[in-house]
Amino acid sequence: MHTDVSEVLFTEQAVQDRIRELGAQITRDYEGKNPLIIGILKGATLFMSDLVKRIEIPVELDFMAVSSYGHSSESSGVVRIIKDLEQSIEGRDVIIVEDIIDTGLTLIYLKNLLQQRKAASVKLVTLLDKPDRHKVDITADYLGFTVPDHFIVGFGLDYAERYRNLPYIGVLKPEVYQS
Ligand code: XMP
Ligand code: MG
Repeated sequence: MHTDVSEVLFTEQAVQDRIRELGAQITRDYEGKNPLIIGILKGATLFMSDLVKRIEIPVELDFMAVSSYGHSSESSGVVRIIKDLEQSIEGRDVIIVEDIIDTGLTLIYLKNLLQQRKAASVKLVTLLDKPDRHKVDITADYLGFTVPDHFIVGFGLDYAERYRNLPYIGVLKPEVYQS
């Protein structure tokens, strides 16, 4: 375990097992369809990469990068698009892939945006959810794990761009971000 991590919440094996289940669920739900899977950079990339390998129907992949104005560790609700989609999504079944729902402001914004662009359907899949922190009414259609209100790193989640490459999901020691 990394010395900056106080506790492993989900091991690499546990994460892979859950991703396999989510992939099977999405495969069943989207049978006969060709969904566009949209990963939110950068946090969702590791999760998305493993998830799509467990989806056994044709899918297309695209990415968006967003940033919220204001303090970087907390969403303000105003979302700036850093990188947009490469294609029209009119009439498409869209699945947004996110690393974590914290306040929920980012995903609510993105969901509304993609609906305005006339997607046929928009669903949310998130690796993690911190329900204690929600500021809006939001429920993921597909959820990996619920986590307590700690700073979480690993499997794509970072602190100051570090720890994304940890193969497990863990809690960052408070002294790392308080110092
Ligand atoms: P919302 O809009 O739901 O923002 O508040 C979700 C985004 O906030 C980041 N975030 C975290 N990143 N560990 C992280 O590495 C965490 O514990 C954490 N909580 C929120 C993340 O970028 C996510 O996309
Ligand atoms: Mg992020």
